[in-house]
Parts: sequence; structure tokens; C-alpha cells
Amino acid sequence: MKGSALAHPNIALIKYWGRRDETLRLPLNASFSFTLDRLYTRCEATVSPWAKQDRTRSDVRLLAAERLRVTRFLDQVRAEAKRAERLSVVVESNVPKSTGIASSASFFAALSAAALRAYQVPDGERRTAILARLGSGSATRSVPGGFVLWPTGDHLTSYGRTLFPPTALPLLDACIPIRKAKRVSSSRGQREVFTSFFIQARLRNARRRLSLMLAACERGDAFGVLQLAEEEALEFMALMLSQTPPLFYATRRTLLLLIKAQQLRRRGLAVFFSVDAGPSVHWLTVRSQLGRLRPHLPKEAIICRPGGGVTRERGAAASSMGSHPDGIPP
Ligand code: DP6
Repeated sequence: MKGSALAHPNIALIKYWGRRDETLRLPLNASFSFTLDRLYTRCEATVSPWAKQDRTRSDVRLLAAERLRVTRFLDQVRAEAKRAERLSVVVESNVPKSTGIASSASFFAALSAAALRAYQVPDGERRTAILARLGSGSATRSVPGGFVLWPTGDHLTSYGRTLFPPTALPLLDACIPIRKAKRVSSSRGQREVFTSFFIQARLRNARRRLSLMLAACERGDAFGVLQLAEEEALEFMALMLSQTPPLFYATRRTLLLLIKAQQLRRRGLAVFFSVDAGPSVHWLTVRSQLGRLRPHLPKEAIICRPGGGVTRERGAAASSMGSHPDGIPP
């Protein structure tokens, strides 16, 4: 029995940082993101009735701790599926490695769907999204497509759901991968969030900013959404810096790209930035600005539009990676 699924990473416009339940990965605050259509992770899971352990084959070398995290996650899938057999998993991805472009989100979203399929458990979106959250919180936002809200709640209510379809806003994310080995993973980093002196203010702000952002989405105000997303990214960096020990993922190039986005904006371009727990930079813009922005984009930038959710068929999955119909280059 085999199951295969593909999922896209997502960029959080309102960030998830901090959990009120470590085991269930229940977040302190609601977050909001869109999936990135040109990046993907595909997992193929095969039930291995005679194997003593799960096996994962991937083009990147997995550290022992990562293998353990995968096995623990598959134990949770087995509990849900009421099955005992181990899985053999093959992973393939075009997400740039060691750059922090949310590879765990697309990985655990694809793995949840593939594993449920392999065990022949009904793999509806809600069940897949709840399971994906147990692997990596942000993965729950990679199960449904488009603009996704992950609310707080309990095990059965806190999962990613589509609020607006991918076409709701003409946004683009130019992902600029910057490679640097992370000394502290985001999983570990966010356990220290309670050491920040402004965590309470942060949680109030996240709630307020999320409602402003949803209102901007409702009225189709892409510029308003991007402005709020950059404010959120700056506050998120400040939050990480205010933890003990402080977390600082930026490199010199990260900072130069943040400054460059602000300079371009002063010259009249609608470009805003976001970052996650890593050195890579996301330049966020609207489709009509791409022509003017293109000469300033680093050559390694990967231009993504809001994308779909998990796809389960191999063929369909591969075709979702094609070039954009409106001329955005592959
Ligand atoms: C900065 O989802 O990687 O990207 O649940 O421990 O796997 P775990 O954390 P993870 O954290 C993502 C944090 C973020 C913001 C976000 O995507 O919301």
C-alpha cells in the first residue's frame, strides 16, 4: 500500500511563534499565511509490513534528531490509523536546503497526506491538517490552499483552513534563499518565547494586526495587507531578539535586502519584506509591480504566487509546478 502527496511551503503574514501546548503544538496566537505555488515537497509512503523501523530516503541528509522527529510523528499517524506497520518514505523537494524557507511545513503537510493514504485511512483536509500540525505547527497551513488561517483552539479545532482562494489578492512572494546552517531550530527557539519581556504586548498586537489584515483582505486592499505583513516581520524579529538567549538569524545579506526593499519603496515601488526564523528574505509585492521590480531582483529569487493545498495524485502534483499562465517565469 502506497500513498503519495505534494505540498507547498507557506509564508506567514501573521506569524506563529510560541506554543501553549508543546505536545499538541497548539499555538499562543492565530496566524495567517499563503502557500507558495512554485516550491514543493513530495512524499511517497509505502507500508513495509516486515520492517522494524520507519525508513526515510531524501536527497538531503537527515540528522539523527530529524529522523527521530519523523518517527515520532509517524507513531502519531499510526495511533490515528490504528495500524502498527512501519513506513518507507521517499522525499523529493525543490525547496532550497538550509535556507529556512519553511521546508518542514511542506514536508509534514505532504507526509501527513501520504501516510494516511498509505494506511488507507480517509484523508479529509481537516484530519490531514490536524495531523500535520503535530509534525510542525506551520505545516497545518500548508494542507489547505490559498490564504489560510490557523486559529488557536484545542486539538480538534486548531488547524489550517482556507479563508480566501489563491486568486483573492494579486500578491507575489519573491523568495530570496540565503544559506546558513541554523544553530537553533525554530522549534527550539520558540520554546524560549516566554522569556521575552514583551510577550503579552506581542500577543495583543498579533490579534489586532490579524483582524486589520483580514479586513484588508476582505476589501481587496493588497497594499494594506503587505504593509501590515512588514510591520509583523519587524515585530517578529524584535520578539526573537528579546528572548533569552536572543535569536538572531539574519546575515549581512539579509539586512542589506531588507534595507533595499525599503529604499525601493521610497522610489515608488510597492515592495515589502518578510522573514521567518532563518536568514532568507521574502520580498512581497503585487503582480502589477513585477516589471519594475524585476531589474532589482537577485538572480536566485524564486517568484511565487499564492498556490493550492496538498495534492495527492502524482501527475497533478507535477503539473502544479509549471510556469505561470500570466508570464511569471519558472
Ligand atoms: C517563523 O512551524 O517551524 O516560520 O511547530 O516547532 O515545527 P514547529 O515550528 P515551525 O515554526 C514556524 C515559525 C515561523 C512563523 C510561521 O510560519 O508562522
